[in-house]
Amino acid sequence: MTSIDAAASCPVHHSFDPLGEPYIADPYPIHSAVREEAPAFYAAAIDMWVITRYDDIEAVLKDPGTFSAAVGQRPVFPMSEEAQGILKEGFHAYPVMSDCDPPRHTRIRKHNMTGFSPRRIATLEPKVWAKATELVDAVEPGQVDLVAALTYPLPAYMIFTFIGFPDEDMDMLKGWCGNRIAFSWGRPSADEQREIATNMTHYWKYCEDFVARRAAEPVDDFTSDLVRIHLADPDALSLADITNVAYGLSFAGHETTTSFTGNAIRQLLSNPEQWAAICADRSLIPKAIEELLRYDSSIPAWRRITTRAVDVGGVRVPAEAKVLILLGAANRDPKHFEEPESFDITRGDARRHLAFGKGIHYCIGAPLARMEARIALDLLAQRVPDLRLVADQDFDFPANVSFRGPRSLLVDWPG
Ligand code: HEM
Repeated sequence: MTSIDAAASCPVHHSFDPLGEPYIADPYPIHSAVREEAPAFYAAAIDMWVITRYDDIEAVLKDPGTFSAAVGQRPVFPMSEEAQGILKEGFHAYPVMSDCDPPRHTRIRKHNMTGFSPRRIATLEPKVWAKATELVDAVEPGQVDLVAALTYPLPAYMIFTFIGFPDEDMDMLKGWCGNRIAFSWGRPSADEQREIATNMTHYWKYCEDFVARRAAEPVDDFTSDLVRIHLADPDALSLADITNVAYGLSFAGHETTTSFTGNAIRQLLSNPEQWAAICADRSLIPKAIEELLRYDSSIPAWRRITTRAVDVGGVRVPAEAKVLILLGAANRDPKHFEEPESFDITRGDARRHLAFGKGIHYCIGAPLARMEARIALDLLAQRVPDLRLVADQDFDFPANVSFRGPRSLLVDWPG
């Protein structure tokens, strides 16, 4: 990889391309190289400024006034006119959390935190166990794709159940959700854009109708919690706000955790002595999850846009610059983690990772994600300690700038 052109008026990297094959296959050697080279640089391939070091990334996350979240969900590359037309007709989402700044973000997030109360999250634990057990019970010995069998259906089912969507709609909803990562974070073809945009309009309409039903008759679910806040004070949270939250959560709470659990199982099975340690003592799992989040999270990079010119580690980043923060590079920054490139489930300070962000946008679903991963690993450690990765398989990762997880994970499931 050519290094940064420091002689240019700003440091420009001509070969850093998060949609390029080497990066998609394994971004971490590239993260390490660019973190070493510069704290920040302009990446021509994606027209973004890239920030590489833990301290600077933490400072970005703690400064929402300078680093706006407004670009969080915006397509990296311009949408086709056709896709824009489809969305204009039938998709009316507006920023509510991950792509929203204060003061609206503060208001919406406060009410969501009520819905994500420890009480409601705790009520999910038996449901996660039950669903994970049902999925594992259904596995036949032999070669199995664990993404299809477990890591995809578990978070999908849980987030839809949490929001309150009926069980019988799950397959239809999953169909509509497909490929949304490519839409906002990848470089989809015109045909793909048409298909995804159409699915987004179906899904949006479904969310609108669903929230209207809950408003007419609230029950015991997260959406009804929000509806009750609306009924008590319509100015605090509108039904449109709630529709936006339901729409956004069903994505945020799903692909992220599928990908993370896939990465987690892959890492553990690739390090058999650490997998054996977990199988021998399952109380190691919560700590192992922090190391897995540090070492191989499902969101190794996230986005911001600057509201003014700002210095990042001595590099001048202009106003209105689109910014990519390399969370994965921060999580392996040698200034913060000893021997950062080694995977060690007994690491004492792994929890200082930035995998869930930091500050006002800190991931609201972190407790749920941790719970789902913990239960999936616990169940596998109990049931199939002899689980092995199918040898010599190629792992395929979707091409996009932010999300990372294997599309399939083949294992030999013992009889
Ligand atoms: C391992 C799985 C997950 C990872 C790695 C992850 C990571 C992240 C990251 C990096 C952010 C952005 C923080 C920022 O902008 O500063 C975020 C925000 C968010 N996440 Fe997660 N997440 C995961 C699972 C979940 C789940 C299960 C849910 C929902 C149930 C969820 C809901 C959200 C929401 C709503 C936000 C926006 C919060 C805000 O802007 O205030 N995430 N997450």
